[in-house]
Amino acid sequence: ARSYEYILTSKPKPGVGQVTLNRPKALNALSTPLITELNQALREFNSADDVSVIIVAGSERAFAAGADIKEMAPLTFSEAYTKSFIESWSDLTTQVKKPILAAVSGHALGGGCELAMMCDILYCTENANFGQPEIKLGTIPGAGGSQRLTRAIGKSKAMELILTGKSFSGIDAEKWGLAAKAFPSYEALMEGVTKTAETIAGYSKVAIIGAKEVVNKSQELGLRDGVEYERRVFHSTFGSQDQKIGMKAFAEKKKAEWTHQ
Ligand code: CAA
Repeated sequence: ARSYEYILTSKPKPGVGQVTLNRPKALNALSTPLITELNQALREFNSADDVSVIIVAGSERAFAAGADIKEMAPLTFSEAYTKSFIESWSDLTTQVKKPILAAVSGHALGGGCELAMMCDILYCTENANFGQPEIKLGTIPGAGGSQRLTRAIGKSKAMELILTGKSFSGIDAEKWGLAAKAFPSYEALMEGVTKTAETIAGYSKVAIIGAKEVVNKSQELGLRDGVEYERRVFHSTFGSQDQKIGMKAFAEKKKAEWTHQ
């Protein structure tokens, strides 16, 4: 395994790859070198045959406290614009076909909240601390926060949070539908996320990737086009070996042995 400076990688269960953000002194602030390593690790897991599902986690104290404010402070408009600052953060959503589960404990602020929202399933602790506090720094969310938070929890609440910079708890995140589940402790969170990852990794990789693709399309397309897109991908699953294997196993009351083909 490659060694990184700002992240750790592991394979906690068969079929599951985990990236743990590991810049504890800065509460996992998302500097450019950290994001570069994260992208590298995600790309490797995405192409690894023995990985079906990816977990992105932080520490108990912080998932990530945002973009690196000290790195951003001197940035000029022309630098930001010409180098398309922060665009590479979206590699997570554009380059990775396998499902990504976020495990959020502690702070998930600014870019940390945005990174968590880019993941496919968001799990958190009840007392996780989410927020988009950029307004307090004289700026605004820059990694999709205004779009993803609004889609997830509705315009009025998202507007309130982004304009006031107020944070919200993991309990709220679950109640509002931003998080799929809030757990009472960090240990319970990590156990829960690993268990869900293991469940998903137990299915056909072809079906998993198709399922993620069509759910994500719902965020981009109108209903008629979205339903049609889903049907096309559904039809294409009948070209896989695993569809035959899965349905035959059901009829024979056996466990499906996937080929991932
Ligand atoms: N960037 C750089 N360094 C950060 C950081 C960040 N986003 N967040 C925390 N740190 C550093 C602190 O500077 C501190 O470093 P030193 O020990 O060298 O002083 C260290 O991490 C520990 O932080 P605190 O001492 O502040 O810890 P705390 O427990 O008192 O407070 C906190 C925790 C409330 C999260 C506080 O650190 C904080 O408010 N952080 C900034 C949160 C923020 O504004 N995030 C949004 C950034 S902008 C953005 O993300 C843009 C975008 O949309 C992409």
